[in-house]
Amino acid sequence: MAEINASIPFDKRLWRQDIAGSKAHVAMLGRQGIIDAGAAARIAGGLAQVEAEYEGGGVPVDLALEDIHMTVETRLAAIVGPDAGRLHTARSRNDQVATDFRLWVRDAIDGHLAAIRTLAGVLAARALEHHATVMPGFTHLQVAQPVTLGHHLMAYVEMLKRDFGRFRDARARLNQCPLGAAALAGTGFPIDRAATAAALGFDAPTANSLDSVSDRDFAIEYLTSATQCALHLSRLAEEIILWASQPFGWVRLPDQWSTGSSIMPQKKNPDAAELVRGHSGRILGLMTGLMVTMKGLPLAYSKDMQDDKEPVFEAHDLLELSLAACAGMMETIAFVPGRMRASAASGFSTATDLADWLVREGGVPFREAHHITGRAVKAAEDAGVMLDGLSLQQLQAIDARISAGVFDVLSVEASVSSRRSLGGTAPERVKAAAEAAIAEVPQWA
Ligand code: ARG
Repeated sequence: MAEINASIPFDKRLWRQDIAGSKAHVAMLGRQGIIDAGAAARIAGGLAQVEAEYEGGGVPVDLALEDIHMTVETRLAAIVGPDAGRLHTARSRNDQVATDFRLWVRDAIDGHLAAIRTLAGVLAARALEHHATVMPGFTHLQVAQPVTLGHHLMAYVEMLKRDFGRFRDARARLNQCPLGAAALAGTGFPIDRAATAAALGFDAPTANSLDSVSDRDFAIEYLTSATQCALHLSRLAEEIILWASQPFGWVRLPDQWSTGSSIMPQKKNPDAAELVRGHSGRILGLMTGLMVTMKGLPLAYSKDMQDDKEPVFEAHDLLELSLAACAGMMETIAFVPGRMRASAASGFSTATDLADWLVREGGVPFREAHHITGRAVKAAEDAGVMLDGLSLQQLQAIDARISAGVFDVLSVEASVSSRRSLGGTAPERVKAAAEAAIAEVPQWA
């Protein structure tokens, strides 16, 4: 029973939040005259001592004490004597754990917000550096149109901005204090819930005592936000892995972010990126696990809910590492612009530019221009050259409306420079977007 029942091996991570909650609670009990001021002061002093002890030596794990709440209270009793028993007046472990866990998730979110800002700042800086570096843009992983590397990196800044917003929204919604809901029905003592909520940095007390002790939406919302962020990191990681592969050769990973092989001396493997990609699957699984744990529970508290903590702790640790690894890799990765440009020029990536030129300069309807361009691509393919490798005569044999001016748009540089539409890949656009992000990311709040 002790083994299946105990949560102290993992919920000891809540010790700071548990002591903070108890300090706020006991101060309120004293102010409200629910316990006498002397006892309240002695308990507060004892809690400060427990806090100092745990800070220095960690939290002792004794399965007989079940969880962090009983562990702290038992140590408090050893320090202050029978007065310790007054701390739990007008409180239950049900509202206590709900409060502790919200505080913990709030801190976890704050850590992620900072890490997302760091990664977005790194990506924006690399994007500025490479605002004019040409690479192929893909659809279906087939070369489609040239884009700039800066544009590609800024796409991830946009994803991270939304991830930031999701965590920020989750934080705003969770920031209500369940303390005072007691076991499930509230309490007959004249408590001041607004005071404990304010003392713990919550915006307000929660409104319904049953909901207060049975809600784990905040943990699930944390996990869904973490999952979405991890999925974005996984896509970035996948691109690092792909681009570092020899047939691509678009990036070189620095030694400090790669590993060797125990058998092949030439190998330099992108293990950190692979683990970021792998961790995203685990985080998704943890989210799913807690959702399934919660789905059939009748109101209010059931012990199943003790299983809410490990998935959140594990997801937190995995995401924190993933964000840090991505920032480290993106800061130090060496891009190989020559290889990227060569790939960008392959696959007739400026075919759309030829079609657009026919529309613009020749007054040809787009569908017809598309057809003419298809014939030009076929001719280039047969001749074994790029589109701009066809002579004017060869192009005019396909359509007489083509003139020498077409060569201004057929290079990859001309192609990216022409895409000046809002949100487009033109270097001037990318430069402005990266500069704006470098200024704004540190202000994300
Ligand atoms: N360790 C418990 C948990 O994490 C604390 C709440 C216990 N409540 C109870 N009614 N047994 O869920």
